[in-house]
Amino acid sequence: MTVFDLTGRKALVTGGAQGLGEGMAQALAAAGAHVVVADVQDDLGPKVAEALGEGHGFVHLDVTDDASWATAVADAAGQLGGLDILVNNAGIEITSLFVDLDPDAVRRQLEVNLLGTSLGIKHAFLAMRPGGVAGKGGAVVNVASVAATIAFPGIGVYSATKSGVDRLTRVAAMEAGKLGYGVRVNCIYPGLVPTAMGAGLANDVAAIGLFPSPEEAVGAVIGLTPAGRLGEVSDMADAVVFLASDAARFITGAGLAVDGGMGM
Ligand SMILES: NC(=O)c1ccc[n+]([C@@H]2O[C@H](COP(=O)([O-])OP(=O)(O)OC[C@H]3O[C@@H](n4cnc5c(N)ncnc54)[C@H](O)[C@@H]3O)[C@@H](O)[C@H]2O)c1
Repeated sequence: MTVFDLTGRKALVTGGAQGLGEGMAQALAAAGAHVVVADVQDDLGPKVAEALGEGHGFVHLDVTDDASWATAVADAAGQLGGLDILVNNAGIEITSLFVDLDPDAVRRQLEVNLLGTSLGIKHAFLAMRPGGVAGKGGAVVNVASVAATIAFPGIGVYSATKSGVDRLTRVAAMEAGKLGYGVRVNCIYPGLVPTAMGAGLANDVAAIGLFPSPEEAVGAVIGLTPAGRLGEVSDMADAVVFLASDAARFITGAGLAVDGGMGM
């Protein structure tokens, strides 16, 4: 057994029905954790959980809804017999030039990315702190973005929400420490990964005229990346396993760039 081992840990991954969240759920399970996949997608989510095998599950969760969080965390902790790890991964990205901003799209990104992550921290703390339904402390990993550390055109509001996730992480870590919750809080800044969101972003920045084609948008990202490639789902998932594990026992309030060097 290594310090990266998660045997016996209980984890909830938001936005786990596809993309990075699905990969994070798989990596946490492979490291030994029991995982509950949480998502608004009631069709895909249970299939992801089923593919993880025995001892894993699915809960419906809309991260923008406080009551949905309360139900989902109680349900997950009931299914798993506790809760030690929350991955706040659910997020949305709506590409737009500032001159074309749609207030509803701005609000939607604020709601899912910032309100959703805030409520996740709230309910993780309530469950994991002494006296909570799980009560044994734990680790929260928030998913920010390289967009929080660079200025890429067409994603101004999304980038701002991810800078917000970065700041939520720092303050939450401080509060958890000061109040003796026994919960570490960290975030990762993923680089571009060609999931539905990542591929959609490349299409959208081309469609609004910032790049001649999606391929050239991707080429520009790779050109800005010292590692010389896009990110892969497993790159992000392994970083989440690390931050959730005892290998990161003295790491809290940190942001880990997992971007091939793009955001340095
Ligand atoms: N793909 C990338 O290039 C990239 C880069 C940096 C950061 N990120 C971040 O990683 C996270 C995952 O991205 P992805 O590429 O897997 O995206 P994705 O669109 O493939 O998956 C997002 C998941 O979140 C779920 N979701 C959306 N709104 C929700 C809500 N209100 N409640 C619960 N679940 C909800 C969706 O149903 C979906 O399963 C996001 O926070 C994203 O901002 C992605």
